[in-house]
Amino acid sequence: MFSLHRKSIVMKKYFLILLSIILLFSCSKKSAIDQQLNNKVDSVLGLMTLDEKIGQMVLYASDGDITGSSIKSGLLDEIRKGNCGNILNAYTTAHTRKLQKIAVEESRLKIPLLFGYDVIHGFKTIFPISLGESCSWDLEAIEKGARIAAIESAASGVNWTFAPMVDISVEPRWGRVSEGAGEDPFLGSKIAAARVRGFQGKENDLADSLTILACVKHFAAYGAPQAGRDYNTVDMSQRVFLDTYLPPYKAAIDAGAMSIMTSFNELDGVPSTGNKYLLTDLLRGEMGFKGLVVTDYTSINEMVNHGVAENDAEAGLLAVKAGVDMDMQGEVYFKYLKKQVKDGLVDEKLIDEAVRRVLRVKFLLGLFDDPYKYCNEDQEKRLVFAPEHLETAFEVAKKSLVLLKNENQVLPLKKGDKIAVIGALAASKRDLLGSWKAYGDTMNMNSFLDEFKIYNGNTNVIYAEGCKKMGENISGFGAAIAAGRRADKIVMVIGEDAEWSGEAASRTSLQVPGVQTELLEKLKTLNKPIVVVLMNGRPLDLTRENQFADAILETWYAGTMGGKAITQVLFGEYNPSGKLTMTFPRNLGQVPIFYYQKNTGRPSYLSNPKYKSRYIDCPNDPLFPFGFGLSYTNFEYSEITLSATELVEKGELTAKVTVKNSGKYDGEEVVQLYVRDLVGSITRPVKELKGFEKVLLKAGNSKEITFKITPDMLAFHRLDMSFGTEQGDYKLYIGGNSRDVKQTSFKLK
Ligand code: GLC
Repeated sequence: MFSLHRKSIVMKKYFLILLSIILLFSCSKKSAIDQQLNNKVDSVLGLMTLDEKIGQMVLYASDGDITGSSIKSGLLDEIRKGNCGNILNAYTTAHTRKLQKIAVEESRLKIPLLFGYDVIHGFKTIFPISLGESCSWDLEAIEKGARIAAIESAASGVNWTFAPMVDISVEPRWGRVSEGAGEDPFLGSKIAAARVRGFQGKENDLADSLTILACVKHFAAYGAPQAGRDYNTVDMSQRVFLDTYLPPYKAAIDAGAMSIMTSFNELDGVPSTGNKYLLTDLLRGEMGFKGLVVTDYTSINEMVNHGVAENDAEAGLLAVKAGVDMDMQGEVYFKYLKKQVKDGLVDEKLIDEAVRRVLRVKFLLGLFDDPYKYCNEDQEKRLVFAPEHLETAFEVAKKSLVLLKNENQVLPLKKGDKIAVIGALAASKRDLLGSWKAYGDTMNMNSFLDEFKIYNGNTNVIYAEGCKKMGENISGFGAAIAAGRRADKIVMVIGEDAEWSGEAASRTSLQVPGVQTELLEKLKTLNKPIVVVLMNGRPLDLTRENQFADAILETWYAGTMGGKAITQVLFGEYNPSGKLTMTFPRNLGQVPIFYYQKNTGRPSYLSNPKYKSRYIDCPNDPLFPFGFGLSYTNFEYSEITLSATELVEKGELTAKVTVKNSGKYDGEEVVQLYVRDLVGSITRPVKELKGFEKVLLKAGNSKEITFKITPDMLAFHRLDMSFGTEQGDYKLYIGGNSRDVKQTSFKLK
């Protein structure tokens, strides 16, 4: 008779054998599917002339939005001749069907078109700008936003989005910080993956008619332009590139993104678009990327300006040999590649590899099975700008708002209070949509002022523009002050025009533009509670506004439903839960300033009053640190409990903390985990985010939060550039932002 013990061993054995058979079967099934796909691709490739092959490497702007100089006329003929296999900035089922029909019914090989578009934070239903959405720290909400953007895009004929933008940046002068997820590689990686899942679907099923191809951009390190000036030189150590800027691109690729866009900038002297190390050795070799590489808008041509090519033809050679599969709008591959192959300058095998990657994506999207799958007019009518999408955009917008100050509990406002609303941005619908608003428009949306009046009652709201978003005109100050006099409280909406961030929108100042702050200062003399609502696309220098405002709510550009979301937060219908994902400096002089700075040899805490790393005219610390955001309630943190004080190579330890909502409002808190490697073979940051959990706590309730720490979380590129961990002492921090934390220590053995 088998003993129970023997029986369980036999059962375990059978289970393992069964499991390995299943795994073996699923791996072989996957490789069989891959093989099938490759056969299909090769069967088409085998029919193609060189012209038709090059046509698949060409991407032209349709007559929709132009995000650069549009240089292509006679587009329809090129599609008909098979010389253009991909289109950007075409949308609606009607327009895309027209173009697709030419490709699949009039061209020789009937290869379907890709339709790409910049669906960055929504297609028609516009979500908060990506930097705002990142401040929700809510990966589910962020994924949902991308999912809805994909659904509306796919329903409108768009099968490819040029998103997510995952460029890490510590440069608030750079306007494109608005498109990303802030300064942190750990959070940026989580958000990048969430956005890819949203676009391509959780199962990465591109054949689904409501998933679209994601495009990770801008590869690589575009977010570190010198002096914050867009398109400017990027120069950094290989270690900083690999440990700080690369992780979100890798996370997006690991999440299954099947296309990537090269960046305009050079990196270490080589423009990304002609950078073989980046596009072939690193991206395809080390990172295992299997998708297609597309350039940014005319970035091949721009290598002549960079000074690494005499002319477009030479630039095209650099690009194709570096690993670029598709030329966006530059006409370089279109004009020169065929002759370069004929002249033996480019091996046709290289062309075949590029075309295989393009065709593979088109097969994965199901376009060969049904090229009109994204051209369903009924679906378009039903899904685009659907009420449930607006509802989700409203929910996400609320979560993206960050309460930076709330003295004397000025907020939340009380319904029925007599309130003066001041500022041009309060009445603006366009600015709520931010940059890269895709197909979004202001037709069916309310401004913040509209929503405020609906909520608080017309008679309780006195509006005065006061001044414009920019310019020196103060003629409206009097009316604004008069409005403030008649009110119990003042809500002033200040910030930047939506076009002051995004592409080609760098600033040399972080000040609130125009005379908005001067007006705020005048209103302060009325000695009434003042709430500042910010609408901006980058961290600003709020030192002066912070003096005059009793409360400050950072709202970014909160999207189609932003007016309602801001109103609901101001009146306490939703307790703000956002946390900054980019540091707000005290002034531009501190930039670049970010939480993961190094300690230096003369840290500012030294007792020596002079000879240490400091400014003589400003503290070192920022005005509002990374991870910071207030709530209408209070959260108290217990001391940290570690399961052990030593972490061994293959082991793990847990860190527990109890968070208590000690206030009178239910609220959500983003509990953040940071570590510090005290001694390394190279200098190490004073903090690094390694975990977070957003938790809802009812007033008076507590919850124990547990983080698991494993050695792999502590790996970095060491002195010899090998990637791994180093034994030694570590600090561990947990708190509601990167500054106010509980701390403890452990050893990595
Ligand atoms: C722009 C942007 C890029 C965008 C592309 C297509 O120049 O740099 O982010 O996807 O062109 O519009």
